[in-house]
Amino acid sequence: MNPEISKDISKAAQLLNAEDVVAIPTETVYGLAGNIYSNQAINKIFSLKKRPLTNPLIVHIDTIDRLEEFTKDIPDKALQLAKAFWPGSLTLLLKKKSVVPDVITAGKPTVGVRIPDHPMTLELLSKLAFPLAAPSANPFTSISPTSPIHVKEYFGEELSMVLDGGECKNGIESTIVGFEGDTPVIYRLGSISIEEIENIVGTVSLKNNEEKAPVAPGMMARHYAPKTKTFLVKDVLEFTSKYPNKKIAIITLDNSYSASNIIINKCLSQKGNLQEAASKLYATLHELDTMKIDMIVAQKFPNHGLGKSINDRLSRATK
Ligand code: TXA
Ligand code: MG
Repeated sequence: MNPEISKDISKAAQLLNAEDVVAIPTETVYGLAGNIYSNQAINKIFSLKKRPLTNPLIVHIDTIDRLEEFTKDIPDKALQLAKAFWPGSLTLLLKKKSVVPDVITAGKPTVGVRIPDHPMTLELLSKLAFPLAAPSANPFTSISPTSPIHVKEYFGEELSMVLDGGECKNGIESTIVGFEGDTPVIYRLGSISIEEIENIVGTVSLKNNEEKAPVAPGMMARHYAPKTKTFLVKDVLEFTSKYPNKKIAIITLDNSYSASNIIINKCLSQKGNLQEAASKLYATLHELDTMKIDMIVAQKFPNHGLGKSINDRLSRATK
């Protein structure tokens, strides 16, 4: 029964060479991958995801030398960031050459590109003559998948194969950085914090919402959303006390919270480690969505480092 969940990298390469789509593991989330030069594969990605064609795809490569094939006029700061973080959870928006099909970039002059940090996907890319376009392997606006099972549940037999690389270690998407002239701009918060980016290139600006960034159409207000009604609040206990008759799941950094209407407290990191919390966020939302509860209430995370990225995703999940 499709999709086959398998560790067979050659099989994945064979399917991709035949213009099919394969779900691939990365250190952030699973991606739905296809040859960037194949209309058939790219159309299948958009139709599986039910994604509007106005939303561009990220291109995945295995070595920095491949940038030359399809990008130009790379700013110095982009190269500094690439050298600092690749392979890793940084997507750079760079000027595209005309070989990149317009459907990949939704007609924009820039293309999103990254080298993912997962050994199986790097090996797969090294076997292929083309880069892979890969959006997160979830239907449009739902939670990104961090395990092969999540992907299988989303797409069933419409998808041929999930390359099984286990659980994604970062668990939250890449950070997207573009340039206005030579100035770096963050369009999506993600697995690499603003502080880490600023350590390499100095101050950056943040344009990660719809009003400020129609450039990155994936930054819609509602996104990453569970089916269960979700709230992000300053004080979980005060908020949940208003709903004594509801069955509530809470997401926190503190496992001491309890009340009769709180069925489960998902403490994402006992030590308050934000990286650990980020890595567990989506898997937790997936799990809570399968439980019979009335609402998910998350306590706002500290507003620094990956806490900002977690708050960003949770606030989009509440819309
Ligand atoms: O961690 C990740 O980035 C994962 C893994 C699979 O690599 N991929 C991912 O792709 O999150 P996706 O398609 O779900 O999100 C990509 C975001 C979208 O919001 C899209 O609008 C934006 O990147 N994007 C891609 N190319 C762009 C471009 N040329 N200009 C502006 N935004 C772009
Ligand atoms: Mg996505």
